[in-house]
Amino acid sequence: MIIAAAVIPASAAPLSISAPPDAALTTPHRIEVLAEGLKVPWELRFLPGGRQIFTERIGRVRMMEQGKLLEEPALTLPAAQGNKMGLLGLAVAPDFRTTGHLFLAWDKALGDRRFELRMERYRLDGKKLVEPKTIIEGIAANQNHTGCRLEFGPDGMLYMTTGDADQAEGSQKLDQLHGKILRFNPDGSVPQDNPFVGKEGARPEIWSYGHRNPQGLAFQPGTGQLYESEHGPLHGDEVNLIEKGANYGWPVISHRREREGMRAPLLEVTPAVGPGRLLFYQGAAFPELRGSLLLCCLRGSAVFRISLGGDGLPTHIERLWHQKWGRIRFINEAPDGSLWLGTSMQDPPEGKPGEGDDKLIRIIADPAGTVDAIAGKAADQVLLTPDTVDPEKIIASACAACHGPGLAGGEKRGLLSGEFKHLKDPVELEKVIRDGVPAAGMPPASGVLSEKQIGLVADYLRAKRR
Ligand code: HEC
Repeated sequence: MIIAAAVIPASAAPLSISAPPDAALTTPHRIEVLAEGLKVPWELRFLPGGRQIFTERIGRVRMMEQGKLLEEPALTLPAAQGNKMGLLGLAVAPDFRTTGHLFLAWDKALGDRRFELRMERYRLDGKKLVEPKTIIEGIAANQNHTGCRLEFGPDGMLYMTTGDADQAEGSQKLDQLHGKILRFNPDGSVPQDNPFVGKEGARPEIWSYGHRNPQGLAFQPGTGQLYESEHGPLHGDEVNLIEKGANYGWPVISHRREREGMRAPLLEVTPAVGPGRLLFYQGAAFPELRGSLLLCCLRGSAVFRISLGGDGLPTHIERLWHQKWGRIRFINEAPDGSLWLGTSMQDPPEGKPGEGDDKLIRIIADPAGTVDAIAGKAADQVLLTPDTVDPEKIIASACAACHGPGLAGGEKRGLLSGEFKHLKDPVELEKVIRDGVPAAGMPPASGVLSEKQIGLVADYLRAKRR
């Protein structure tokens, strides 16, 4: 069992969370660093016969045999560099044993400061990737928002996330492929049951749209439901449940705002954690993780363990390995149930590489191993629902990660004393909380808190200020 977690009442309304309580694996285990000195390892997959293959964002595809990293890359691509661009997603074809097929997604410079995101299929021949075949190309890409996770579904189809390429309006346009989740047959053709096949002015590859920068995809075992993680604006990171043909709202809505015909996230996370890969853990090695949805956090430097109820909604959330290794881009489950993690500290401007970064880390259940102490103090109530009316709980969930407990000061300024900078008169308090101070890094609470909750927090602040 894992300790102390907040319980979310069953409700379909989107939930918000800031920093969940810290927890640790309760199964004794040991930790091995399998490789060091990597450059932003982005995705790792397990191959039959005990080999592993992974991408580094700088353009290298690397292989491991019997736990050892091979010196020579399996492939080096001229992937465009710059902020978050490069070689990204990697997926292994379901029929890999007979075909040797693998899929790679990468950004390519087209000259004139234009970039594309493209996906190609390769065949693994010994220790080299050969015979590139273009599956899709010409998807708008840019520095920051370019996805791109590749994941095969239980339906045998290949799903691909694309970012909004810093051209947010395109996320709503069905004749463009950025800001989408796309779906392909394993041979690269378009499945005839995709939602926009045969619709005029719409690209048939699209599965869902209105996304900002999705970088995680995971299918829930048993139900086959598709969960997605996405980088939000002004904090407001998201976990979404993806439905065929649905519109996830970007850039029209974000955070917990709702709008007819658009989907709000299942879970909204503020302050931002920088969501990476998602994984449903299914192994036997760590029973405490079985069935959980694991969310990698870059900026949040942790992995969130999210328990889901029978209705597919989050019920418990906890934080594992907070600040133990830094920014975590991916976690994956090996055939033996061990966990493989990749760090992203060689990732300017946020990543500050320490000795040996970036690392590939393996966590193996071992009765002779140890159990981690919990790093942080477990918070009581961190989840917010539309029914929460205790101002201290609202603040603990929506404000304390920046302004400290009770708004007394934390990472950002305390608000209980001194002059206000952004509002002239305390009567404007509701307005500042509702609209935020985007230029100063304060996200708007509208859509996250109800008008009533904003009023309760404002009253609390007025009463407490000296
Ligand atoms: C992601 C971090 C973050 C969160 C979450 C956040 N704030 Fe802020 N807030 C800021 C920053 C940064 C500023 C600007 C501080 C400055 O300029 O000194 C600010 C400014 C403010 C101000 C204006 C202060 C002034 O001097 O005029 C108020 C009031 C405020 N926040 C209240 C809240 C409340 C209430 C919540 C919760 C509903 C909240 N904030 C959530 C980061 C945050």
